[in-house]
Amino acid sequence: MKTFTLNNGVVVTAIGYGTYQTPASVAEQNVIDALHDGYRLVDTAQDYGNEGEVGAGVRHSGIPRDQIVFATKVDTDGYKETTEGIDGSLRRTGLDYIDLMIIHWPRRDDLGTYKALEEAYKAGKIRAIGLSNYNEQETQNIIDHFETVPAINQIETHLYWQQRRMHRYLASKGILHEAWAPLGEGGAHMLSDPVLVRIAEKHGKSPAQVLLRFEIDEDILVIPKSLNPAHVKDNFDLFDFELDEQDKADLRARDRRTQVGWGWPENMRVEMQY
Ligand SMILES: NC(=O)c1ccc[n+]([C@@H]2O[C@H](COP(=O)([O-])OP(=O)(O)OC[C@H]3O[C@@H](n4cnc5c(N)ncnc54)[C@H](OP(=O)(O)O)[C@@H]3O)[C@@H](O)[C@H]2O)c1
Repeated sequence: MKTFTLNNGVVVTAIGYGTYQTPASVAEQNVIDALHDGYRLVDTAQDYGNEGEVGAGVRHSGIPRDQIVFATKVDTDGYKETTEGIDGSLRRTGLDYIDLMIIHWPRRDDLGTYKALEEAYKAGKIRAIGLSNYNEQETQNIIDHFETVPAINQIETHLYWQQRRMHRYLASKGILHEAWAPLGEGGAHMLSDPVLVRIAEKHGKSPAQVLLRFEIDEDILVIPKSLNPAHVKDNFDLFDFELDEQDKADLRARDRRTQVGWGWPENMRVEMQY
């Protein structure tokens, strides 16, 4: 399994299991199953309504806690709310510490929110801290105000929005680029993209597998989500083939700088569409 080393030395696998819109009723068992399939990173959020169940899956999986990266996102604004929110996540999940905690999206008092994260990081409650949905200026603002450079920025990234400019900026700051919606949220149009399908057929893999492998090869951490056990297994089975340079060039050329799913605030779209 390919891994990435974060800027503070924490090691994460190149692929994790996403849980957006995973119903709380099935989240614990799904996480246990994914961990038994080999995944070692799970991504949830205070906002998903399943954070406690995802944490329970980590605790009840039978896999040593120190082999799993439990990642979540704060849905709070400002120092006080976030400090309480971090303790709330620990209580809900029943975990002694959180491996990765990121700000879900920019809000009003991001400096206060990050201050709370940094304090919890220094106190050993969190092993790495970072951001999500931050554009270049917003990321730089955090860097300029804190000792701890964010370890990760989790942003929408897939075949049709490859975020190449933002990737270069993040790499230049030592921040790992993490993709949300790495499969374009499963939109049929993306996984039936003719170039993707042709390359998948050439390698005897599925379009989803080729897309995830492409993203990982571009040094992007991917966290595909699936409720289908066969897809969960397939999405982890990515390392028995190699994309050649022509494949990668053809996939890079599919970038349309367009988003899927919900709309970005106008300012983010402008900054991130490169
Ligand atoms: N930070 C943020 O603001 C943010 C926003 C969105 C998501 N996220 C995180 O990123 C994770 C991934 O993003 P996402 O869930 O939005 O989208 P995604 O992983 O790109 O796509 C999920 C969709 O793809 C389908 N799928 C998965 N594997 C497949 C396969 N092998 N073949 C065909 N279809 C497949 C799934 O359907 P089946 O269930 O039928 O397989 C599901 O409908 C989330 O779960 C969440 O943890 C973060």
